[in-house]
Amino acid sequence: MNISDTPFLKALNKEKLNTPPIWYMRQAGRYMPEYREVRKKFKNFLDMCKEPDVCCEIALQPINKFKLDASILFSDILTIPDAFGLGVNFVENEGPVFAKPINSPIDVSNLGHFNPNDLDYVYKAVTNIKNSLPENIPLIGFSGSPWTLAAYSIEGRSSKDFSKTLNFIKANEIETHELLSKYTDACFLYLRKQVQSGADVIQIFDSWANLLNKDDLKKFSFDYIASLISALKIDPVTKNVPVILFARDPDCSSKILINTGADCISLYWTMNNFDMHASKNKIALQGNLNPKILLENKETIKKETFKLLSKYKNYPGYIFNLGHGITPDINPDKVKYLTDIVREY
Ligand code: CP3
Repeated sequence: MNISDTPFLKALNKEKLNTPPIWYMRQAGRYMPEYREVRKKFKNFLDMCKEPDVCCEIALQPINKFKLDASILFSDILTIPDAFGLGVNFVENEGPVFAKPINSPIDVSNLGHFNPNDLDYVYKAVTNIKNSLPENIPLIGFSGSPWTLAAYSIEGRSSKDFSKTLNFIKANEIETHELLSKYTDACFLYLRKQVQSGADVIQIFDSWANLLNKDDLKKFSFDYIASLISALKIDPVTKNVPVILFARDPDCSSKILINTGADCISLYWTMNNFDMHASKNKIALQGNLNPKILLENKETIKKETFKLLSKYKNYPGYIFNLGHGITPDINPDKVKYLTDIVREY
């Protein structure tokens, strides 16, 4: 079976299909009892990501349980800052905490050189997952966007408003660009290795795009994403690998997203005014059910899902997904129900 004949790759190639391919952001995670069982064995989440066999087992859990149309590498976006020596730890009930965040401009110039081989554990996980998947299930590799990685690295942890980061970029524009360039180069090398190891598709997560106003979004995030994508599109290893861009609620026009060079835009659940006429036949779309709908009863889930499916049903190249990741409070039975009704529609 050629991977380009699978529904997921066909949709990414802007083909209109009767039933959309389905996968979910955070399809492997804490909402699954099988995941929690494995997770118990590790204190620090990143230690678990450093075990390729464990990553493989976890990545396959949702595939086996829900028969999804694509698998995603089990890892995290913060592997890159960790490889740069910033010391990423996941603390219970707090999320990621950096031992050595970027506090001053000097920290940027002192940042070490990125050696992609430091993340061999990720590429091994990619190969293991690819070898364990049925041959008709494509594998998605991923990275954070340079901006989202920089935001975590400066803030040093998760935050509601990332005020330390926003002050830093205003006060230290040159060093911010230096950091973003380093992360862009690292993302390129990292994604290239993932493709060499078996990833069929790439997704870039710009999870903190929403922190920036229009001008800053272009300057600090989308210009770097565009240069990352253009590097991928000219490299012989990655040039034919479709790129999906997820940006959380960005303050920009649809045209700007279309012009990043991505093959597919993953729509956040609030992005209901995306210009589908402008993107038609140029770009595939993925999304964008509000994950919180999965906390409702089946009747509501069905109503909201059918509404969404009717909106996208004639769109050439549509992939069913949520508008952001599945949260830990969601019952797996609802994920099964959702998957079934999308296929039944
Ligand atoms: O199934 C999948 O989607 C694959 C695995 C995956 C994880 N993280 C596993 C994970 C992917 C693609 C990511 C990407 C990621 N990591 C993003 C971008 C996606 C998004 O949600 O916007 C971000 C921002 C991160 C950084 C991160 N990782 C944070 C802030 C946290 C802690 C907060 C939280 O949601 O728990 C994580 C931890 C994390 N990454 C978990 C999982 C399954 C939970 C860890 C645990 O079990 O303790």
